[in-house]
Amino acid sequence: MSAQGISRVLVTGSTGFIGAHVVDNLLARGYSVRGSTRSAKKGEQMKAARPQYKSKLEFVVIEDFTKIGVFDSVMDGIDAVIHVASPFFYDTTNNEQELIIPAINGVKSILSASAKPGSKVQRMVLTSSFASVVDVNSTPPPGFTYTASDWNPLTYEAAADPKSTSVEAYRGSKKYAELAAWDFIKDEKPQFDLVTLCPPMVFGPVVHPVPDIKSMNESNSVLWSVADGVDPLPGVRVPAWIDARDLAEVHVQALLKPEAGGKRFLAASPEPFSYEYAADIMKEKFDWAKDSVSSNYVAGQNPSASYGVDGQTAARELGVTYRSFKDTVVDFVKQVKETIL
Ligand SMILES: NC(=O)c1ccc[n+]([C@@H]2O[C@H](COP(=O)([O-])OP(=O)(O)OC[C@H]3O[C@@H](n4cnc5c(N)ncnc54)[C@H](OP(=O)(O)O)[C@@H]3O)[C@@H](O)[C@H]2O)c1
Repeated sequence: MSAQGISRVLVTGSTGFIGAHVVDNLLARGYSVRGSTRSAKKGEQMKAARPQYKSKLEFVVIEDFTKIGVFDSVMDGIDAVIHVASPFFYDTTNNEQELIIPAINGVKSILSASAKPGSKVQRMVLTSSFASVVDVNSTPPPGFTYTASDWNPLTYEAAADPKSTSVEAYRGSKKYAELAAWDFIKDEKPQFDLVTLCPPMVFGPVVHPVPDIKSMNESNSVLWSVADGVDPLPGVRVPAWIDARDLAEVHVQALLKPEAGGKRFLAASPEPFSYEYAADIMKEKFDWAKDSVSSNYVAGQNPSASYGVDGQTAARELGVTYRSFKDTVVDFVKQVKETIL
């Protein structure tokens, strides 16, 4: 694959937190973007907020991306795909129906449309997750570092078990959706290649339509709850993170670097985080936070991760640098306080 032939990119999940950053990164580099969304209104809002890209940005409404065939009519002129969309929420009533099956079928649906005769798609970048990598039930030996070769051992049956939590089901949704993509490439041998990305917690300012704080995406909502005075502070599920702007850069570099084809990357800052560390940053940087953010913890303790996460391979091979947790927290909290509340 060569980046020379890429002009128009289809981005699914384009009106969500990460997808909108991917859209902006592509536009800033001069690419045309077709974003898929479930909401015509959100697409219009994204366009209205980017008047300078009027001729390069369009949206198509795909209400149910899990039906095979729904993407077939929107592939015209598309040279590459970044598939970001996947259900990411924990307030479920049926984990398998709401999280796992849609994630897997969404992947199958976009893959099959991209592989149809006449398709010009050269590469697909898939937003998977560190959830498809980490084994939350094991205590790794001291010094252990997760790499992109690791897979979460969770079985489909355990993830889909009605007794499983939505967090377990989400982990299964990401693992089995990513596996479905790799299986498709192996079995169908389409004309395009695949790159999968496994980010841990993603935080940062938003560039998609967020009418109020209740509509904030899952990971940022938890970070905001710290600024909002939640007590006790949330526990950390995984001690690793990446800024959404850096993750967008990772996506687009993964799309454009020929040698990335066929690879799986962990995309993560080398700096561990905790919500205690976030609270310290907020109290240091914002006067209003000194009283409102919880002090019910030992301040000034640097977060210590129980394992490492190799984000450096992605940084090196894709040519990306990661910003600091402090910058991410400050930019996000400032934005929410000044423009969303
Ligand atoms: N945020 C994190 O910490 C994190 C970490 C690792 C991986 N990820 C992955 O990153 C991706 C984006 O997540 P995000 O944080 O940006 O969350 P988000 O803002 O909730 O975005 C999810 C996107 O997926 C789309 N989507 C969800 N269910 C869908 C369905 N049934 N049919 C069609 N589209 C659907 C949404 O479409 P609409 O805009 O139309 O609602 C939205 O654009 C997901 O694949 C997620 O698993 C996120």
